Amino acid sequence: MNDMKNAGTVATIPSDAEVTARVEALLGRMSLEEKVGQLAQISGADFMPGPKAEEIIRKRGAGSVLWLNDTKKFNELQKIAVEESPSGIPLLFALDVIHGYRTIFPVPLAMASSWDPAVAEQAQTIAAKEARAAGLHWTFGPMLDIARDARWGRIVEGAGEDPYLGAAMAAAQVRGFQGNDLADPERVVACAKHFAGYGAADGGRDYDPVFLSEAQLRNVYFPPFQAAVNAGVATFMSAYMDLNNVPASGNRWLLRDVLRGEFGFAGFVVSDAIAVGNLVVQGHARDGRDAALRSLKAGLNMDMASSVYLENLADLVNEGLLSMAEIDEMVRPILSLKVRMGLFEHPYVDETLLEKVVALPEHRQAARVAAQRSMVLLRNEGGLLPLPKTLKNVAVIGPLADSMEATEGSWMVFGHKPAAVTVLQGIRAKLPEASVTYAPGPEIRKDIPSFFDEVIFSEAQKPIQTPEAAEAAFQTAVETARGADVVIMVLGENANMAGEFASRGSLDLPGRQEELLKAVVALGKPVVLVLLNGRPLSINWAAEHVPAILEAWEPGTEGGNAVADILFGEVNPGGKLPVCFPRSGSHAPLYYARTLTHQPEDHPQYRSRYWDSPTTPLYPFGFGLSYTTFSITNLNVSASQVKIGESVTVTADVTNTGKVAGDEVVQLYIHQKWGSDSRPMRELKGFKRVPLNPGETKTVTFNLGADELRYWSTNAGRWLQDAAAFDIWVGADSLATLHADLEVVN
Ligand code: NOJ
Repeated sequence: MNDMKNAGTVATIPSDAEVTARVEALLGRMSLEEKVGQLAQISGADFMPGPKAEEIIRKRGAGSVLWLNDTKKFNELQKIAVEESPSGIPLLFALDVIHGYRTIFPVPLAMASSWDPAVAEQAQTIAAKEARAAGLHWTFGPMLDIARDARWGRIVEGAGEDPYLGAAMAAAQVRGFQGNDLADPERVVACAKHFAGYGAADGGRDYDPVFLSEAQLRNVYFPPFQAAVNAGVATFMSAYMDLNNVPASGNRWLLRDVLRGEFGFAGFVVSDAIAVGNLVVQGHARDGRDAALRSLKAGLNMDMASSVYLENLADLVNEGLLSMAEIDEMVRPILSLKVRMGLFEHPYVDETLLEKVVALPEHRQAARVAAQRSMVLLRNEGGLLPLPKTLKNVAVIGPLADSMEATEGSWMVFGHKPAAVTVLQGIRAKLPEASVTYAPGPEIRKDIPSFFDEVIFSEAQKPIQTPEAAEAAFQTAVETARGADVVIMVLGENANMAGEFASRGSLDLPGRQEELLKAVVALGKPVVLVLLNGRPLSINWAAEHVPAILEAWEPGTEGGNAVADILFGEVNPGGKLPVCFPRSGSHAPLYYARTLTHQPEDHPQYRSRYWDSPTTPLYPFGFGLSYTTFSITNLNVSASQVKIGESVTVTADVTNTGKVAGDEVVQLYIHQKWGSDSRPMRELKGFKRVPLNPGETKTVTFNLGADELRYWSTNAGRWLQDAAAFDIWVGADSLATLHADLEVVN
């Protein structure tokens, strides 16, 4: 079908009036059945029961097809939609392209560690280009759920705990996926998910109910979504769980009042998978018919894969429980997106395009740079890192050292085969002359595999290592380390240990990894720990006993090369943590932006909130080291007093005081000292990643105005800016001490 009308030519951008006219003309000739078809997203995978995609499309068309990643098949289904379905409306092909299509970038939590929205934008631009070349139109990303509980597996998919950083990463990803024009044939439509509050699942247990006050929602959980709307995101996905006892996919307040009414979102909302049908399971709807009615009334446009809309909406209209106007209202933005994308003019994909696009060397190079920028140096006692390239004998130890899955990480594109450069490969490539030995040690595995492990991850099919084999692997690893001058341990979590359905109670290194680490450190050799993981881990022992620790996250296709670039000093790490690292899973949720108590941490009687361990984080939010040193000085606030609504400029100088070039992320925090509500003891309100040569100084400038100083007040029941005093800190992490005062008056 290569000669067919395809992507590759930019369609002329239709005016709003033209779009409206075309949509109304389409609606005017569509039957009720066809309209309902547009409200359905149907499965292209065989694992779902019910009629096959072809059959549904031929009969009444469909809004979209998901869980299919097959370029040829896209064209085949599109042909049925365009040539055989009654109104010939093209399909939108949708899939989760979360951190790359073929060229895999670091997982989103890692990308947030770059504190560099431009790098996230570039990554998603490339992901979009590859995905679009494969024939996909729409990705289910970015995931914008604030996550303050490291036990929650999906923390890996988002930007961490902070709304300000989260909003910056949200907007950047939307721009990367969508570009400036929905008709751009090298972009995909983005989807802000999961609206809203999913990251606050009780106990960090995936899918569990969420209870959040309106103030928490508006001040913490909504800002990334609002930022996505402001950046022009075309679609939203509703979340699975109950929010304050109302399932998010049937939540009128969320979908109509907040999203459309307040944020001004004009696109459409798709449910999470089977979420409409699940309103019955969740105890909200009596049956499928009731579920369809509740979701549609709540403002949910498209039913992802539950068939509940397909089966019930027409009857509900015929029986007078829904009006045609209500159906049209839901169909309109779906048609309008298809018109704006130029899908009617260019419904097909050029089947030869993908292989040309994925082969572009600049994609791999961008993935390598993104991985370098996202890594966080947690410890470097005695300047053990960077290692010299003259090393002769290096041992690389650990179950993740040569794992392509763990390197590419969680949320692979449907059907994608991991093809990453592993850490072992990266080190070997960097030291062609040296002896680089390798031993994995005992395997690590989830105690209770998930449904996904059974159907998606190959690991589930692998036989479980016997205790004897594990012990032998342990001893081999120690012996391998004994023969080396330097040992690089690569530990953490497998790709399937974070993500959907992958929450855990403990944040310790799984399996016998810590025991192995202790045995290797006991050999008395220099040991470097490289962590591959998708969530904070409570590496308390390592934090005291292992001299060098690099948090590499799940760094993607070029991850192993990026790790080696950093270990051997070709690149100086500059990432910072977008989440705090708790000392124990039982300390979660833990985050820096807490409100003060009557006995704060600097109170003379303060010891710890728990009597069995300190409750401070092991590593604070915003933390990360470098191979050089920086000083931040000369904090200046342009006025010590301003009126409500006015702005001040905050400046500080950052100097590279060390011997090599490096980046510092300068961070601005505020604290409102009193007011209508208690406010967090610190809140991030500005950041800038600054590259500096040795001896170089730059001045960083931030703006603090009404947007930064207002908040949604429980006491006032609205957005508010108080007349109050503020602390201002600028520094290199959330413990910054460089301080100034600001007073806001009436
Ligand atoms: C369920 C997940 O919660 C969501 O994030 C994803 O986009 C859909 N499945 C589709 O695969």
